Amino acid sequence: MKYYTATYGCQMNEYDTALIASMLERDGAISVDNPEEADAIIVNTCSVREKAEETAITHIGVYKPIKDDINPNLKIVVTGCMAQNRGHEIMRRLPYVNYVVGPDQYRKIPNLLFGKQKRRYELEFDREENYVGESAKIVNPYSAQIAIQRGCNKRCSYCIVPYVRGPEKYRECSDILREVKDAAGRGVTEIMLLGQTVNAYKDGNEDFASLLNRISDIDGIRRIRFTSPHPRHYTDELLRVLIENPKVCHQAHIPLQSGSNAMLKKMRRQHDMDTYFGVIDTLRSADPLYHISTDIICGFVGETDEDFEQTLEAVRRVQYDTAFMFIYSPREGTESFKETEILTEEQKKARHTRLVELQNAITLERNKLMLGRTETLLVERSSSKDDSEMLGRTDNYKKVIFPADASVKPGDYVQCKIDDIRGWTLRGTLVK
Ligand code: 5AD
Ligand code: SF4
Repeated sequence: MKYYTATYGCQMNEYDTALIASMLERDGAISVDNPEEADAIIVNTCSVREKAEETAITHIGVYKPIKDDINPNLKIVVTGCMAQNRGHEIMRRLPYVNYVVGPDQYRKIPNLLFGKQKRRYELEFDREENYVGESAKIVNPYSAQIAIQRGCNKRCSYCIVPYVRGPEKYRECSDILREVKDAAGRGVTEIMLLGQTVNAYKDGNEDFASLLNRISDIDGIRRIRFTSPHPRHYTDELLRVLIENPKVCHQAHIPLQSGSNAMLKKMRRQHDMDTYFGVIDTLRSADPLYHISTDIICGFVGETDEDFEQTLEAVRRVQYDTAFMFIYSPREGTESFKETEILTEEQKKARHTRLVELQNAITLERNKLMLGRTETLLVERSSSKDDSEMLGRTDNYKKVIFPADASVKPGDYVQCKIDDIRGWTLRGTLVK
């Protein structure tokens, strides 16, 4: 059986696609890059904003002609957050979809695809399902994402994730270490740990700080990253490990959502700006180049001009290296969905534009701070069509483009002098 995958949304979804791929390949399936050659197409969807769902619905439709004109036996599987959220509707509206499978039921996919049943839902939550014993397919030969937590217990008032991914569950430490060792054995040197509130990790006596230390002891692992931490779950011990353990990269994606305490309260974020700035100040005083990125929602219900100004002020104070900035999208089933919005779409968009402009200027300034430095890059890939340039990342997650060299291949660690910036992009030359 030949399978094709398309993934939308976050890194957790990328991980899950790789998990499904490894289960299918164990049963003999092979992956193809062209959907027209596939016997099965898996579309792993996102629900976080309304637009993400619309995008996914449109994309599922793209595969219908393949089924109509090329392969009537093609099986289309819809997985991920939108499958969980709107599975019944998908089956009703899209009769060419065969299976909708929620995030806790992926083990069933091989049987569905190799079985006789034509259409089916698998949408149960399973509090125990952590995919213990599984290793996601290694898509990238030098870097692997590894989920250590599934689901979320936070219930931020705007967020659909807890409803579509279920309550939080932490994977056993021993199983995480097994998957990391497995990846390291195949040449992976960089690990990205994933979870909705990844730094709240616990398993018996292990917490996130001790997990980081254990992973850093594994032979072959040189860089450890993680996403997304919650501002409230930075313990002193964790901050110490982040700063002192040389394998834990100086990079953090710490969602802000809003810079106004009133909004944070309304969002049920469980932290205030003092806590937030406390974490940032600790990291940046240890290393002024510590890469900090964030998520921000503008135009949340009830956000006043003053609240929004506080968000802008927080962005100026933190000096983010980069930010994902979203316009609030009311999600049915969430607490804030019930509240009447006062801001118009235009007002929300205007705020978003101001925020993006501010952040763009800051991103440029932060990147300029790297000029003149010689850094170790993990080489990722060619960055130009003619292979004349390559792209690598510094420990603090800055992308650097450099002229290709016959002796350098993806996965290598090289020394690079950063000597130019074009647009936002840093450029450098190899130091041999
Ligand atoms: N509207 C807009 N953005 C949202 N996010 C989550 N829910 C919503 C929503 N209803 C954003 C948050 C989160 C990121 C993954 O998506 O900023 O951190
Ligand atoms: Fe990821 Fe959330 Fe989107 Fe699900 S809804 S794919 S958890 S961002």
